[in-house]
Amino acid sequence: MSGLRVLVTGAAGLVGAEVTARLANEGHTVLALVHTRSEIVRNDGRVVRTVPIERSGPGLVSCVAGDVTKPMLGLTTERHEDLATGLDRVVHAAATTDFGRRWETYESLNVDGTRNVVRLAAERAVPLVHVSTAYVCGERTGRVLEDELDVGQRFGTGYERSKFLAEQEVRAAAVPAAVVRPSMIVGTQESGVIRDFKNMYVVLKLFTQGRVRSVPGFYDALLDLVPVDYVAALICQVVNQFDEARGRTFHAVGAAPHTLLDVSNALAEYPMFEVPHYVSPSAFDAGALPPDERVYYRRIIAMYESFFRRRARFDDTNAARLAPWRPAATGVDYLRTLLDHCVRVGYLGRAEAGIGDVLRLAGRPR
Ligand SMILES: NC(=O)c1ccc[n+]([C@@H]2O[C@H](COP(=O)([O-])OP(=O)(O)OC[C@H]3O[C@@H](n4cnc5c(N)ncnc54)[C@H](OP(=O)(O)O)[C@@H]3O)[C@@H](O)[C@H]2O)c1
Repeated sequence: MSGLRVLVTGAAGLVGAEVTARLANEGHTVLALVHTRSEIVRNDGRVVRTVPIERSGPGLVSCVAGDVTKPMLGLTTERHEDLATGLDRVVHAAATTDFGRRWETYESLNVDGTRNVVRLAAERAVPLVHVSTAYVCGERTGRVLEDELDVGQRFGTGYERSKFLAEQEVRAAAVPAAVVRPSMIVGTQESGVIRDFKNMYVVLKLFTQGRVRSVPGFYDALLDLVPVDYVAALICQVVNQFDEARGRTFHAVGAAPHTLLDVSNALAEYPMFEVPHYVSPSAFDAGALPPDERVYYRRIIAMYESFFRRRARFDDTNAARLAPWRPAATGVDYLRTLLDHCVRVGYLGRAEAGIGDVLRLAGRPR
């Protein structure tokens, strides 16, 4: 299908940029809602060409600066009207994905921001594709189905709780909607290329540099890593086949989850990497860590701690039906592809001076 008029929020972000570029390449008219960064850079570093909104048209991208936390996305009434008129789809990808933010930030951006975008879509019954996270399942163990949401789960982070509440906003609204839930987004299937080294990549840096040597967790805990190219392709498929996707949720997940043992084995193949060991959470004592390690643990690792003991397996029946080309990349081979890329571009295998450098490299506030 081509020729839709699509609003993409979070269009300059990791996911939004890739979705924006792909939709435009497919011949859609893309209205890209940007926030503080106006340049749209694809995962491989290519800058997406944009045209002023007055010249928007099929195959072209036009940027609109807005703020989803504000009513009418922070736009003037006139601009809001222009934007909403004739829309065929809204893809909502704006969010904060940082861990360790204050709850007010998650609430205002991820929950209230979603409510504002839902309102825009609902006013004109525009089909909404909402980008959530597989980790709205919180700390659930075992098989997680795509149509499940509230099963009384406990949340490991404020981020996932806010995304859970955002999904509830979408479900409660009188708007035709589909939800895509990526797990942890990492590099492309073929080459491992990733634009932003955030979240688990920061953890990997601390592990491989030996800054953090022991972590509370289980070797058989499961990490679900999904290639960024697959996530973007699945979102575009949902946009294109909305009639089929409507009312459904899609887990955008890896071909199979990796155990922490898989990850440790892959790290051990690189002579320059240190490999952390996992300690039973009941026996772990952060206070007993050496002073430097304790700082890294408390500042960074503690935010991700629940991921080192989770054992969720995401069922992706809906996604497999809609996108039969789901990720082939699997097992330790894919981990090697991801790590090789990190080494090739100098993200891993290089020592930084201290915690400030690690946070800066990962684009995180100090
Ligand atoms: N990355 C992952 O591993 C992952 C995994 C599962 C689900 N997801 C979901 O995928 C979606 C996209 O994530 P991502 O990784 O692409 O995140 P990202 O790279 O951080 O992009 C988020 C985008 O949202 C924009 N934004 C922030 N505050 C805004 C505001 N007030 N108004 C309008 N836009 C605002 C940001 O713009 P500025 O930078 O200019 O502020 C940025 O372009 C999110 O819904 C996230 O929850 C991501």
